Amino acid sequence: MKRFLAILCAAAVCILLALGFRVRAAGKSDYSKQDVQKLLRFLLGDPADDLTGEELYDLNTDGTWNATDITLMKQELHTVPQSNMLVVYFSRTGNTEKIAEEIIRSTGADRFVIEAAQPYSDADIRYQDDTCRANLEQNDKSVRPEIAQMPASLDGYDVIWLGYPIWWGEEPRIIDTFLENVDLSEKTVIPFCTSGSSGISTSERNIRALVPIGDLRAGKRFAASASAADIQTWIDGMELPVKKTETKIQISVNGQTLTAVPADTEAAAALAEKLRTEPLTLKLDEYGGFEKVGKLPWALPRSDSQISAQAGDILLYQGNQMTIFYGENAWSYTRLARLENITQAELAALFGSGDVTVTLSLDAE
Ligand SMILES: Cc1cc2nc3c(=O)[nH]c(=O)nc-3n(C[C@H](O)[C@H](O)[C@H](O)COP(=O)(O)O)c2cc1C
Repeated sequence: MKRFLAILCAAAVCILLALGFRVRAAGKSDYSKQDVQKLLRFLLGDPADDLTGEELYDLNTDGTWNATDITLMKQELHTVPQSNMLVVYFSRTGNTEKIAEEIIRSTGADRFVIEAAQPYSDADIRYQDDTCRANLEQNDKSVRPEIAQMPASLDGYDVIWLGYPIWWGEEPRIIDTFLENVDLSEKTVIPFCTSGSSGISTSERNIRALVPIGDLRAGKRFAASASAADIQTWIDGMELPVKKTETKIQISVNGQTLTAVPADTEAAAALAEKLRTEPLTLKLDEYGGFEKVGKLPWALPRSDSQISAQAGDILLYQGNQMTIFYGENAWSYTRLARLENITQAELAALFGSGDVTVTLSLDAE
């Protein structure tokens, strides 16, 4: 009987593993919030979001699009950076973690906690004991304690805040393990630490000497009792690099999704801000055999000039109407965006001769 149960369990594990593999294999692993919203709207019966044939939305490849796919998509979403900043920290007794929490709260940065594969027990950090693990490690610069799990990738991050306690005047060796297993050569790194009284400078020197870092900023030591205001003052004094990733606009029309590059205008920025909150579905009327035009639910800042509009241009007309060109026309408009990777003929065919409904959403690349 026991043998039978063991075989049954093994079979169940195999099936689960196989299913898990299928889910992974089907996932495109960079789902955006818009994908989740699109699937949700489809499930709520919005005809503008017909997913027929869109295999990428069927994450568990069971031939249907349902709540399971949304759940799986949300899991994938967690692997996508939500910010261009990541707070990486190691904290054995919670002091450094409190500072990290405050940085995350203030900046909206993502979080990665460095955990030792073999966790540090209380006895391991009893520094009064010469032979405790922490002391032995700090006495040997070559020790590299194993990290339980490294971050999947730092690709989407421009800024890494790196936090640790001071152990015998230096960064714990596990920080060195982390540093040697990531590529920071194009990142801005901002160290911070907590300690009883020691400063951060020796650890800063160690970090600089250990690995190439794009821009290593001056770090900051905090007391465990540092207030939120202390931390905020430090953050405010820092000039942080702006997000390098370019946000594009996704436009769904007649079952096809196009992307558009926003123009460098106030109106385009204001439109992106609106779309960041929720997608916009708009009915566009045919006009003049060269454009589709529809009224926006709000006005956008005008900076009109005479523009020879080309197919693919998305322009603001009279401050509160959006036009998408599949032909040409010269008039006074404000630029909003430009469709990419589509020809005039393809546009004309896609938009057709009548009115159309389009859905605009943000797509952070
Ligand atoms: C092994 C060990 C060595 C330490 N060495 C120092 C030190 O050299 N200077 C200092 O000011 N504090 C030292 N401390 C105190 C810690 O830096 C301090 O308690 C820190 O806030 C702990 O951070 P955590 O709670 O994030 O782990 C040491 C603590 C330990 C466990």
